[in-house]
Amino acid sequence: MKTLTTERLTLRSWTSDDADFVFDMYSRWDVQRYIGGSNARIMELHAEAVERIERWQHLDHPIHGIWAVQRTSDGQLLGTLLLKPIPASGEVPPQPSGETEIGWHFHPDAWRYGYATEAAAEVLRHGLAAGLGTIVAVTAPENVASQNVCKRIGMEHQGTTVKYYNETCELFLIASEAHGTSPAAPGA
Ligand SMILES: CC(C)(COP(=O)(O)OP(=O)(O)OC[C@H]1O[C@@H](n2cnc3c(N)ncnc32)[C@H](O)[C@@H]1OP(=O)(O)O)[C@@H](O)C(=O)NCCC(=O)NCCS
Repeated sequence: MKTLTTERLTLRSWTSDDADFVFDMYSRWDVQRYIGGSNARIMELHAEAVERIERWQHLDHPIHGIWAVQRTSDGQLLGTLLLKPIPASGEVPPQPSGETEIGWHFHPDAWRYGYATEAAAEVLRHGLAAGLGTIVAVTAPENVASQNVCKRIGMEHQGTTVKYYNETCELFLIASEAHGTSPAAPGA
């Protein structure tokens, strides 16, 4: 997975040393409330954090990733940025829809500093520059904070959809032409 940087942030692979942070973040209802739709639940065991990091470390994709977002100045972990296949509604087990979604989960201590928007804008740029034609984001209808991130990074609201996750979601989309990012030349 490619390490990405912004003015204030470093987006890197997760390591086993990050398990305390992952557990602290995902064991909070404030963070989990809108993740997983009607199946939303908090992480209850530290071992789940260890297992989740191991799963994230095994992802091997030239464009997609699940990044640890860290403040560059002091190394403080802030949250997670995701670029991954989005599952279609209707299938058990879930089947990929063929589309790519962007998502963000930040620790409440890192909210309201613009970090999620800064990290998301860079992952969006990376994905479109690497050749993705479109990227979608879905949020719970009540998750206004997340919808604001979508808008800040230039995604267009497409209305409500039931196409993904067997849930009713607000759908946001951006196409590479609208973003003005040209795919990198092969090998660049
Ligand atoms: C969704 C989530 C990442 C949004 O976090 P956030 O901190 O509100 O988002 P941003 O990074 O865009 O920060 C924007 C806020 O920082 C403020 N800000 C402060 N300093 C800033 C700076 N230097 N640059 C930009 N914005 C700054 C902005 O004014 C804005 O505040 P406002 O909401 O009062 O207008 C966060 O609520 C979260 O992690 N929720 C739990 C997980 C979740 O629901 N994920 C989404 C699932 S779909």
